[in-house]
Amino acid sequence: MKSLPYLLFLCLSSWSPVDCAADGNGYLMYADFWCDVRSTEPQQVEYLIDWYFNKEYMMQYNSTVGDWTGFTAAGLVTASLFNKDEHDVLQRKVEKQLICVDHVAMVLKVIEDNIVEPSVTLLETAGRGPDTMLVCSAYDFYPKLIRVTWLRNGREVTSGVTFSDTVSNGDWTYQLHSYLEFRPGRRDRVSCTVEHVGLSEPKIYHWDSSVGRSEVGFVVGGVGALLLGAVVLSSGLIKYRRASSSPL
Ligand SMILES: *[C@@H]1O[C@H](CO)[C@@H](O)[C@H](O)[C@H]1NC(C)=O
Repeated sequence: MKSLPYLLFLCLSSWSPVDCAADGNGYLMYADFWCDVRSTEPQQVEYLIDWYFNKEYMMQYNSTVGDWTGFTAAGLVTASLFNKDEHDVLQRKVEKQLICVDHVAMVLKVIEDNIVEPSVTLLETAGRGPDTMLVCSAYDFYPKLIRVTWLRNGREVTSGVTFSDTVSNGDWTYQLHSYLEFRPGRRDRVSCTVEHVGLSEPKIYHWDSSVGRSEVGFVVGGVGALLLGAVVLSSGLIKYRRASSSPL
């Protein structure tokens, strides 16, 4: 504890995050500055500073509280010093305005100007054994935040659901794939819902197990008609051959 005032002095005398080397191993002080923006109303915006010394969470500034709170011996002392310092009090107010109000408004505007809504596909592939796999894919959207959910007969499903990472396309846009593996019943209605800031309302994509079956029926019917056609045609050909080969 003897070296503590020395360390504090060393670190506090330099303002920016700095390596306060006091011995061979060094000491590290760093701070996280962050904004909690629940709405763009400046009163609702919270500015926070998490202050660490040697990986120890030392103190925090919270703009809603309006001052610093210490969590360690050094943190308690430093927090009370900062709270009495009118320059520090003013500086944090200015920082809140600059970082959390002005800068966040600027960043939000840039994001808003570049919103791209996702284009979505819902495909069916084979799952394991008798299972079916549905793949709901959202392509080329910005910003990154997106929500994809599944409904089966009106109820949200989470079991059998997996997601890919939201991957970058190399430009500023992203893609995400969600997979639902399940054993379809006779009349299952499944849908994939996509929510994104680029969509004015959630978009819903449907899959119906009976559609799959009637398509199979359609194919069977088509093949049957073809076979029937072939039989009629070949019997016609045989008759024609007989007719043409019979001597006149
Ligand atoms: C900041 O302080 C306010 C008021 O006490 C509290 O509601 C809020 O949760 C604090 N924020 C954080 C991130 O701790």
